[in-house]
Amino acid sequence: MAFIDFTESELVNVKDIDNQHLKMVNIINRIHSGITKNRNYNYTSDLRVLIDEIEFHFETEERYMKENHFPGYYSHKLEHDRFFTQMVNNFEKMKEDRSINIGEQLISFKRWFYNHLDLSDKKCGTFLNSKGIL
Ligand SMILES: [Fe+2]
Ligand SMILES: [Fe+2]
Repeated sequence: MAFIDFTESELVNVKDIDNQHLKMVNIINRIHSGITKNRNYNYTSDLRVLIDEIEFHFETEERYMKENHFPGYYSHKLEHDRFFTQMVNNFEKMKEDRSINIGEQLISFKRWFYNHLDLSDKKCGTFLNSKGIL
């Protein structure tokens, strides 16, 4: 079983967004399997790729929301901004401080991902679907 499952119930039914979610989940799963199965694995470059992917993804969702005048735009963007700042801070800290644990970071990412998906991204997806965006 993968660290993060991505099944039909995780879909928001907007193709671009679903593809990006899947891409991020795959990177997270790769990092998780690296740190749990391979002693020589160094997560630094995969984590960098993940951060870039997340940044690109948030920009994509925000553009969709803004272009379509989604009423929940500001609070949704705020959730992105808070998460992103915290994640980048932790990543920077991890470079110097080995006591910050990558495994714990992945668990908190997973928690955030499912929560945000269920409470915010799906709402956004339903709204975009109603505007004919699939
Ligand atoms: Fe989002
Ligand atoms: Fe998302």
